[in-house]
Formats: sequence, C-alpha cells, structure tokens
Amino acid sequence: MSQVKFLNLKLKNPTVLASGILGLTASSMKRVVEFGGAGAVTTKSFNIEWRKGHKNPSILPFRHGLLNAVGLSNPGIDEMVKEIRLFRRQCDAPIFASVFGRTIDEFAEVTRLTVEAEPDLIEVNISCPNVHSEFGQPFGNSCEDTAKITEIVKKNAGDIPVSIKLGPHGPGVARLARVCEEHGADAITAINTVGPGMLIDIEVRKPILSNKTGGVSGPAILPIAVKSVYEVYKAVNIPIIGTGGVTVPEDAVQMILAGATLIGIGTGVYYQGIDVFKKIEQGVREYLDRHGFKSIEEIRGGAHE
Ligand SMILES: Cc1cc2nc3c(=O)[nH]c(=O)nc-3n(C[C@H](O)[C@H](O)[C@H](O)COP(=O)(O)O)c2cc1C
Repeated sequence: MSQVKFLNLKLKNPTVLASGILGLTASSMKRVVEFGGAGAVTTKSFNIEWRKGHKNPSILPFRHGLLNAVGLSNPGIDEMVKEIRLFRRQCDAPIFASVFGRTIDEFAEVTRLTVEAEPDLIEVNISCPNVHSEFGQPFGNSCEDTAKITEIVKKNAGDIPVSIKLGPHGPGVARLARVCEEHGADAITAINTVGPGMLIDIEVRKPILSNKTGGVSGPAILPIAVKSVYEVYKAVNIPIIGTGGVTVPEDAVQMILAGATLIGIGTGVYYQGIDVFKKIEQGVREYLDRHGFKSIEEIRGGAHE
C-alpha cells in the first residue's frame, strides 16, 4: 500500500535516506535499505576530487537537532562511482547520486562522470550552508546561478533524471524551484540544512564547531521544511523530495500533505536509529488506514485544498 511512483521509478515506500548520512559506501546504504527499510538511498555529496572537509568537532547534537559543518568531505568521483555500481549490483532499491561543484563547470564535469555509474537520479547540491569560507555563498542563493547549473547538469545527465536540492534561503524556495523547472529539472529536493547557526561552549566561551558555524537539521527545522515544500508544490508541477526535520510518522504525513512525493530522512537516523524508515513507513500506513485512505496519492498536497 505504501508503494509510490516517483518519475520513472517505483519505490516500495516513500522514504529516502537523505544525503550526508551513511551514504559513503555500498554496504552502509545496503544496510539502510535491508535493515532500515528505506525505499531509496542518496549518496553523500561528492565532487571530482577527494575532500577532507572540516576538522572535528564537525557534528554537534543539541536539544532540537544537529548542527553540522562536515564540509562536504568525500572520497571523490572514482570511489563513489565504484560504490554506486556495487550498490546497484547488490540491492534493487533506487540510488540517488548527490553531486556538487565549486564552479559551474565542475557541476557539468561531475555530472558527466556520474552518468557512468548509472544512478537512478542525480541530486544536485547547490545549497550547502557550511562551506562558505571556501566556496562563498551557495549557488542556490542566486536565481541566475541556479538556472545555469540546472541547464548544464541536464545537458550532461543524459537520460538520468535530475533533482535540484534547494535551501530556504536566498530569493525564496518557490522562486528558485520555478527557475529549476523552467530550465529542465525533473524534481526538487527541499530542503538542505538551515542557517548557518552557531552553538557556544559556555565554559570555554568559544563556538563549539571547529568551523564555528554549521547547518541546522532535525526537529528544529521541520516547520521551515514543511512550509518550503508547501510553497514549492504551489509553484511547480514536478515532484518534490520533502526533506528536513522528519523523525516520526506524523512529520512525514505533514510533508505529504504539503505536497511531497518522497520523504528524505537524515537526522532522524541519529534520533530513531537505522530503522527510522521502517517506523515511518508503518506509521504513515496506519495513518492512511485510520482515515480510510487507500494510497498516499489520496492525501498528497491535501493541505492546499
Ligand atoms: C551530518 C550531515 C551531513 C550532511 N551532508 C550533506 C551532503 O553532503 N549533501 C547534501 O545535499 N545534504 C547534506 N546534509 C543535509 C541533509 O541531506 C538534509 O537535507 C538536512 O539535514 C535536513 O534533513 P534532516 O533534518 O532529516 O537531517 C547533511 C546533513 C547532516 C546532518
């Protein structure tokens, strides 16, 4: 009953591992599907070259979520192509490859090389808020850059569908989503982490993260994510991977009512364990049964009526 159609794919349920959490190796992503119950997985964002990322501490739990400045650490395209291929051989759940670039040309190049791994979708991370010191403002804060990247990634992605990952900042998520749709995006992923934010150690009297600031995720951002998905749903006709703050089934139902087709879960894995996907899928199913709905499609976007 929780089966869901997303573009040309059929997922056994609408939950997806969000980028950045357990998404570096085929074996960890396989565990997320087999033990965790995820309907699909997204890799950690990668670029052409290996990247060390920021020094520790780079992930900080607080009462309402996580603050992270991992800094896009990843082993680079060659390793990630191997891991994606391995996952595809061992697991039949869809895999989404998350890519980023430091320049617009790098987005083109990393996409071209990623196609060789034949992922089911290429997710384009233009909205990471914690690499500001090296990359400047995220490309996703500008409509012009968002248009250029969407166009160039689509040109290089061949038949593989493309989702652009947006944040709630800059000119506004609805406007950005419209730009993505106009330039050929097949889907929107909303949202990335929020901020950046900061937490201070009151004994040492200094920011705790080595990078000082980081992106906020988890329950603290659920209302921002739900509102973003609601606005994107109104603005475009392409499907949405609703991500941000989902840790329990009721959060996922809100995302679907706002208009999400798939539900991305990242920080929820820290809060609820690897089987958070199973728990959420089951809870959404129970919600549908309780209210007499036969499928998720019947409630998608329901908050707009
Ligand atoms: C530790 C950590 C690392 C992340 N790394 C990435 C990344 O590499 N690429 C990306 O697009 N998003 C990354 N994200 C953002 C998540 O994919 C997600 O959009 C965000 O955390 C909101 O969802 P959540 O509240 O379910 O975690 C990361 C998040 C966390 C907590």
